[in-house]
Amino acid sequence: MATATTPRQAAAPHTVDRLFRLDGRVAVITGGAGMLGRKHAEAILEMGGRPVLLDVNPAKCRAAAEELAKSHGTAPEGHAVDITDRAAVAEAVERIVRAHGRIDILINNAAMTVESSSPISGYFAPFEDYDVALWEQALRVSLTGAFLCAQAVGKQMLRQRSGVILNIASDVGVISPDHRIYRPDGDYPGTPFNTPVSYAVAKAGLISFTRYLATYWAPHIRVNALSPAGVYNNHDEQFVKRLTNLIPMGRMATKDEYKGAVIFLVSDASAFMTGFNVVMDGGRTCW
Ligand SMILES: NC(=O)c1ccc[n+]([C@@H]2O[C@H](COP(=O)([O-])OP(=O)(O)OC[C@H]3O[C@@H](n4cnc5c(N)ncnc54)[C@H](O)[C@@H]3O)[C@@H](O)[C@H]2O)c1
Repeated sequence: MATATTPRQAAAPHTVDRLFRLDGRVAVITGGAGMLGRKHAEAILEMGGRPVLLDVNPAKCRAAAEELAKSHGTAPEGHAVDITDRAAVAEAVERIVRAHGRIDILINNAAMTVESSSPISGYFAPFEDYDVALWEQALRVSLTGAFLCAQAVGKQMLRQRSGVILNIASDVGVISPDHRIYRPDGDYPGTPFNTPVSYAVAKAGLISFTRYLATYWAPHIRVNALSPAGVYNNHDEQFVKRLTNLIPMGRMATKDEYKGAVIFLVSDASAFMTGFNVVMDGGRTCW
């Protein structure tokens, strides 16, 4: 466990634009080829940083790098890695450190979502019949994956005596999903739809993991969480109506709306913040 007796003063002047800049910082993003992972990478590129995508799906990883090269002129490095595989994670981290000399930021963003793993038979099964293997698989990706990545990257950050970790949780890690908004017969033709118990429990676990590591690694490594709420992605209209009734701002998020919070949390703009969970949910958890 790290200890400190004197406050550290940043050498650079605290102008706001400098606080948010990430020039040259190396940022590893798990699930970096997914919908929000690409947005995190985009945000890091826009602030001068160097995103490195880790994703289990090599084709998606290549596509994400190509898309970012087209839109932002730089193709981020991508590694096809299953983050539940300890040896594969250690090997990828070693390769990244060999290439860049350091890792400044880790965003634990990968999760077993229906979009990334579809079609997974049984993903939306009722709790009473939920398959234990699917429950364990979801916990392995969200929790064990974050644990393994934090272990491997954290060792490097401790050597550097600096680093920032951001865990992507969810509003349903803070409150229960509202089961009343899901129709038992499904909102999509022939498909049941809900938030599975494993997803909500994994996200709650990630928030606890955030507090544990933040206190364990202070002051050298800062660890925070971001809990986004549902991003609109061509969902069924009736479902959107029922969900947005629960949100004071009356709508779902757009996929670009978390970029600002991500940059705040991984940059020096949040330098005196650790162990916190930023809930960005249009006000849903206020009532
Ligand atoms: N989209 C939303 O509405 C929303 C809301 C709240 C929280 N979140 C959280 O944001 C994060 C990103 O969500 P998203 O919508 O972009 O999901 P997504 O499904 O588009 O992306 C997840 C990515 O993780 C990768 N992945 C899955 N298992 C992996 C493994 N074992 N190793 C490495 N990579 C793996 C997938 O290939 C995929 O590219 C997730 O943690 C999700 O829970 C999303």
